Amino acid sequence: MTSTALDVEFRPLIAPGTGDPPDEGDFAEMVRVRNTVYREVSGHDDESITPAELRPHYDPDPDQIRYVWLAVVDGEVVGRIGVDIPLAKGSRSAFWLIELLREVWGRGIGTAAYALVEDTARTHGRTVLQSWAMNPAADGPMLAPPTGFGSIPHDNITRFYLRHGYTLEQVDRSSILDLTASFDGIERLLAQAKDAASGYRVVQWHAPTPAEYREGYAWMKSRMSTDAPAAALEFDEEAWDADRVARHDAKYTAAGRTMLVTAAQHIATGELCAFNELVIGPDHSLATQQEDTLVLKEHRGHRLGTLVKCAGLMTWRELMPDSPRVLTYNAEENRPMLDINEAMGFVPVAYEGGWKKVLSA
Ligand SMILES: CC(C)(COP(=O)(O)OP(=O)(O)OC[C@H]1O[C@@H](n2cnc3c(N)ncnc32)[C@H](O)[C@@H]1OP(=O)(O)O)[C@@H](O)C(=O)NCCC(=O)NCCS
Repeated sequence: MTSTALDVEFRPLIAPGTGDPPDEGDFAEMVRVRNTVYREVSGHDDESITPAELRPHYDPDPDQIRYVWLAVVDGEVVGRIGVDIPLAKGSRSAFWLIELLREVWGRGIGTAAYALVEDTARTHGRTVLQSWAMNPAADGPMLAPPTGFGSIPHDNITRFYLRHGYTLEQVDRSSILDLTASFDGIERLLAQAKDAASGYRVVQWHAPTPAEYREGYAWMKSRMSTDAPAAALEFDEEAWDADRVARHDAKYTAAGRTMLVTAAQHIATGELCAFNELVIGPDHSLATQQEDTLVLKEHRGHRLGTLVKCAGLMTWRELMPDSPRVLTYNAEENRPMLDINEAMGFVPVAYEGGWKKVLSA
């Protein structure tokens, strides 16, 4: 049966500020829809996650208010809508997503959901709205951001953002490294990086972060919000301390996920200067996610990016011999990072757009 926007109900998953846990059944439905949408758009299951693994990311969080609604048509959950309101001091931002099963696209449900997004942002006085979406590869006209790096198809997803007043600011590349292939190249790169980084040593740990590294890791995590290429997207400067590191780590460890952090330590001062994170869920035969990687500005030019990435992967292959590949995301204009990834053997598989709209106050 066909439905129109009028038939859709947006059911809150979490009542913000109440601290009430979301209903388990609804949460599982939200994750089911999330995984299906990602499979439909990407053509693979590497982004899939279980409700237990995602659940800690929806616990009450002092760093943001998280709104989630389920889109329900005829009693069936067909999509999810999320709005995050960061609580960094002076933040003007809201981040959002609307993810609908393909079978209900083109009925006005996305547009009705978008009204909820803007209302929520306005309620919190937020004027800078940002959102990311992956576009399936397609032939035909493309749209490029003002950076001039990368492009995405001018498809229904792109039309949706443009129709709602958004500008494409950045293109991100999703890449995959085959962990079953030879590691000879990675070993060679690691040896070269070690030569170029003689004043540094590699240190590694699993979340939760040991006490001796908490302060250094917190500082590097805070620099992710200021030092990664952002084009004209806006990110609040994030304040990280030992408590926030503990909350961050618990989001992974609570559900039996493994996070390996590989860092470069400046030998003379003991300062942590670069890091890389690799994550996998309890099923070690699935894909690995590469999360943050950063070299502090003052320590760039010593091959520390290559050092932490290659050293991390060498350890990872021993720890997780059954994980078939690693996924990573990088801004298309982040040439230094892409150079490292390409040299290691990562190949691009998909592109996503970073979109922004500034509301009049
Ligand atoms: C992008 C997305 C949210 C759009 O949702 P949607 O419900 O299909 O959006 P709408 O129905 O409001 O608009 C889509 C099209 O339907 C048309 N339409 C709008 N109302 C309609 C209605 N009542 N009946 C029929 N068509 C309608 C629109 O004009 C639009 O046409 P176009 O694509 O040719 O430009 C959806 O495709 C999706 O979930 N994609 C995967 C996840 C994603 O990329 N999300 C992006 C934000 S994170």
